[in-house]
Amino acid sequence: MIESVNLTKFYPPPIKSLFDLKSLRDFLGKPREKIPALIDLNFKVREGEIFGLLGPNGAGKTTFCKIANALVIPTRGNLYINGYDSVKEHDKIKGKIFTIFGGERNLFGLFQWRVSVEKNLKFIAELWGIPKGEAEKRINYALELLNLRDKRDEWYQKLSAGMRQKVYLALPFIIQPEVLILDEPTVYLDVFTRREVWNAILELSRDFGTTIILTTHNLKEAETLCDRVLIFNKKKIAEGKPKELIEKFQALKARRRLLVKVRGKVKTDDFEGIAEKVNIYNQNSLTYLELYIQEEHIREVLRILANYNVVDLQNEAASLEDVFTQLIKC
Ligand SMILES: Nc1ncnc2c1ncn2[C@@H]1O[C@H](COP(=O)(O)OP(=O)(O)OP(=O)(O)O)[C@@H](O)[C@H]1O
Ligand SMILES: [Mg+2]
Repeated sequence: MIESVNLTKFYPPPIKSLFDLKSLRDFLGKPREKIPALIDLNFKVREGEIFGLLGPNGAGKTTFCKIANALVIPTRGNLYINGYDSVKEHDKIKGKIFTIFGGERNLFGLFQWRVSVEKNLKFIAELWGIPKGEAEKRINYALELLNLRDKRDEWYQKLSAGMRQKVYLALPFIIQPEVLILDEPTVYLDVFTRREVWNAILELSRDFGTTIILTTHNLKEAETLCDRVLIFNKKKIAEGKPKELIEKFQALKARRRLLVKVRGKVKTDDFEGIAEKVNIYNQNSLTYLELYIQEEHIREVLRILANYNVVDLQNEAASLEDVFTQLIKC
């Protein structure tokens, strides 16, 4: 279980110059932390859940991931991982939590460049004290799942960025941590590799019961993977299951856009008093209708459309992206 209790982080302001008295005081003494990254963030993640942290650039996502790994000390509040304070009791959770930061900059140092993928993974497994036979089994499983079979003897240096990210993602299958933190794990990945990674994340949750916190800018990713999400920008804005948030948003908006393709002509008068707005466009023998209607008028509109030769009808559904954009704008 993960619990964030009033988690707050203010970073010190940047040092302008050591000759500037205020900067010098900040540098030498206790800096007056001013730049807000997280403000009183409260939430709980249940065991085995995939929990999404969604926020715009600078919302505080990476800061949260760093606090989870005791790389940044919160200004106030606590983050508990399996009941232990992530910073003050870091030694108690050290082997149980694993973090993957997205983007290549974080891969330097972890993997040896002129060494094969398999040897790299074996070496890391050994560092984590996994018995040889078991490590081999886990490595084979992960390489198979992530479609990296034919790369096992390749030097790490020769892999593309996406392949390297997948090798990184093989680690939770080998180490099998209780808690996995993924900070933008699919950033820079193409659509195919991204789906392989999604699949691996779901597998970790389903088969290994790993508790996963995932940050992403890809709202489709959050919608696909996360049991629950927290939308925040330093402070919490909303929390819930993606589907519930979308439904609430839909109800709030209570307005739908229907796109209808009809063979033959359509009388716009038919929709008077029912649709808020009707756009009409004729091409050859087809009529394209764009109807903006309130939720409660759907039945009536369908009844009218039954009198026409409807070829196609699309109901524009809301997505997590709509919810996110709307909430962040407010
Ligand atoms: N070491 C630091 N010193 C000062 N300010 C920092 C530091 N690290 C982050 N910040 C600031 O804290 C805020 C949150 O940054 P953070 O990197 O946690 O956001 P993020 O949600 O991960 O953003 P992104 O989506 O761009 O990765 C930003 O305003 C950022 O400028
Ligand atoms: Mg970040």
